[in-house]
Amino acid sequence: MVAARILRALAKKPDLVLGLATGSTPIKVYERMVRAHRNGIDFSRVRTFNLDEYLGLPADHPQSYRYFMRKHLFDGVNVPDDNIHFPPTDGSDLTKRCGEFEQKIRDCGGIDIQLLGIGRNGHIGFNEPTSSLASRTRIKTLTERTLEDNARFYGPDETQPEVAVTMGIATILDARSILLQSFGTAKANAVHAAIEGPISSFWPASALQYHANTTFYVDEESAARLTMREYYRRVQRAEADSEARGLM
Ligand code: PGA
Repeated sequence: MVAARILRALAKKPDLVLGLATGSTPIKVYERMVRAHRNGIDFSRVRTFNLDEYLGLPADHPQSYRYFMRKHLFDGVNVPDDNIHFPPTDGSDLTKRCGEFEQKIRDCGGIDIQLLGIGRNGHIGFNEPTSSLASRTRIKTLTERTLEDNARFYGPDETQPEVAVTMGIATILDARSILLQSFGTAKANAVHAAIEGPISSFWPASALQYHANTTFYVDEESAARLTMREYYRRVQRAEADSEARGLM
């Protein structure tokens, strides 16, 4: 469904601006985009901005998000290198260059569709609990929980980075539409806090309640703690029905 939404948007706007996420959650979406390209869909005018990247990992390090994106998406579609953007993590003057990254997003006309996952602690991008809801792209120290969740990707001799550069929460909220995917029981608390909890920097994804065009795509496990589950199902059916009747 998420890939279909992106492809529909691309058909309407060939120079679509996509905000992209890493992690296990969006991999299937990227597979579908690669398949669409094999079937003739053109990505040559698409611009992309990734949410976050580790500080201190070179682009060719298998745990870097630049490597991840090449492997799962960019090697399989024809987005030109010059159209691909990551938050700055190499070299000096990162604060200034984080500002330039934000400016680049604005120069492209803003992000049309932002893909998101969610951490067990409710983070979006690497905006860890207590991140300012007004934050912009900046350096962020990762929490113990995030480090634990990602430790599985590192060998015993490898150093796991503890600091990253991430789009801020305000950066994310500027996107025209936001699609958040969550799968599995481990995320059920975070999904509940994000959708039904009070808005709080302690659960950064709850800031999405401020965004007028955010859709959560969750499986039964991630939805398990939602108290209004039945209502959401009804809303979904009603919307699918309206769409089918051409009302939306
Ligand atoms: P995951 O990570 O997709 O690997 O579960 C999501 C996140 O931490 O944002």
